[in-house]
Amino acid sequence: MKFFLDTADVDEIRQWNATGLLDGVTTNPSLILKSGRNIKEVLKEICDLVDGDVSGEVAATDYDTMVNEGRALAKIAENICIKFPTTLDGVRACKTLVDEGFKTNMTLCFSATQALLVAKAGATYVSPFIGRLDDTGTDGMGLIGEIRAIFDNFDFETQILAASIRTVNHVKDCALAGADVATLPPSTIEKLVKHPLTDKGLADFLADWEKTGQTIV
Ligand code: E4P
Repeated sequence: MKFFLDTADVDEIRQWNATGLLDGVTTNPSLILKSGRNIKEVLKEICDLVDGDVSGEVAATDYDTMVNEGRALAKIAENICIKFPTTLDGVRACKTLVDEGFKTNMTLCFSATQALLVAKAGATYVSPFIGRLDDTGTDGMGLIGEIRAIFDNFDFETQILAASIRTVNHVKDCALAGADVATLPPSTIEKLVKHPLTDKGLADFLADWEKTGQTIV
């Protein structure tokens, strides 16, 4: 399972990239706003920093402008992945950019039939929004399972990129349900490694080690 970082904050990306555990980055218009940076400049900096795919989202909603914006974003770097909303115009724009050889990420996916259409368009990734579905009382994780089953039925190569992840249990359940990628806010990726018994056990071991009076190097 791949881990992407869901942020446009270059300092945070640099910090997590140094762990060697990062497989890519996702951004969206809200994250660009939060960064306070110019979209093309910040995406270029992130693409140079990270080896994996970096998603940058178009801002238009009509097919022609989406395609133009997608082509402009595609010029930023080889590892850019163009993000389109899952609307009819967005799916059309995705198909056009896929046919031109670019990577695409279809965002704001909230149903299995949307994901099916996205896969038929040949998108590189589909992004079902788990947290936002949970917010409305719908089972976000159930959607991941449905999409996994549909993609496996037809050997679709589109990767399931679980988005809008809010908790460590979301990450665990996405892994169990067969998501290919989870895009995580920095606060969530940090929590994945935390366990109070690890901290307590380490404190006990260190106390005993000190009593041995030994050193390893
Ligand atoms: C990532 O591609 C999505 O834009 C992001 O995960 C959305 O998360 P949110 O629902 O917490 O804004």
